[in-house]
Amino acid sequence: MALTVALIGSGAIGSRIAELLDAGNAPGIQLAGFVPHGDAGTGFSFDEALDVADVVVECAGVGAVAEFGPRVISAGRDLLVTSIGALCDGTLRKTLLDDGPGRTFLTSGALGGLDAIAAAAAGGSIHRITVESRKLPAALIQPWMDGETKKGILATTHPVELLRGGPADMIKAFPKSTNVVSALAVAAGDWDVVEAALIADPAAKQTSHHVVAETSLGTLEVRVTNQASPDNPASSALVPHAVVRGLKTLANASGTFI
Ligand SMILES: NC(=O)c1ccc[n+]([C@@H]2O[C@H](COP(=O)([O-])OP(=O)(O)OC[C@H]3O[C@@H](n4cnc5c(N)ncnc54)[C@H](O)[C@@H]3O)[C@@H](O)[C@H]2O)c1
Repeated sequence: MALTVALIGSGAIGSRIAELLDAGNAPGIQLAGFVPHGDAGTGFSFDEALDVADVVVECAGVGAVAEFGPRVISAGRDLLVTSIGALCDGTLRKTLLDDGPGRTFLTSGALGGLDAIAAAAAGGSIHRITVESRKLPAALIQPWMDGETKKGILATTHPVELLRGGPADMIKAFPKSTNVVSALAVAAGDWDVVEAALIADPAAKQTSHHVVAETSLGTLEVRVTNQASPDNPASSALVPHAVVRGLKTLANASGTFI
């Protein structure tokens, strides 16, 4: 099935998705354009995206999901979200997941095992999910940190736990780096069952996520180490490929895992 896609976000993830689509990695799926950030003119507007695209892919940040997401689905277009942390906002979550007529999909992004956790949640109950994420210190510096804090994190020679908490705590403090925590909550169908720890680790040449999900149908343990995106050390090189895989599934490609 042919599918026309518009992208919100032309950073590390968005530009790589565009490259993959242009290179013919997903036959039948064509890119209509990028929705510009603010006033940056690209000759393509959000309104045009709603006119021509079957699917609008958000790869811009949690703010962009709130700004554009409800309008995408109310226009009857499908929305594919990478910044899943935006769903920590219960009102926005309800709008995106329950209203229509467009549908909201979430990328598996940097993580694996979400399908099995969702299946366990559907067929049983989720007792507890823990996730420990490790990233290079420089990738975790945030605008709200004061100079001393930044200096301490950058100079650390051993792993330092920066934050421990639930999806909303994590996304508020580290909005670009903790979307996987919210993804686990969506998979579990429970925003209170996930406990995350974020660690700045000078030895973490690759970002890692260690997930343990204890469920009534068994225990699932997933350990993922991700190559960083060459364009953004805070982002994972796997994510654009996960998005393109999702688009292929939406286009009814045969042989995909669903
Ligand atoms: N689900 C996952 O596993 C996962 C993993 C990594 C990143 N992410 C999400 O993907 C997002 C994008 O990652 P990236 O590495 O490409 O970031 P990036 O900083 O390289 O690029 C973000 C792009 O979005 C644009 N942008 C920001 N706000 C916008 C808006 N309101 N309208 C239009 N464009 C806007 C920026 O100008 C920039 O081009 C991250 O912010 C994060 O929330 C999710």
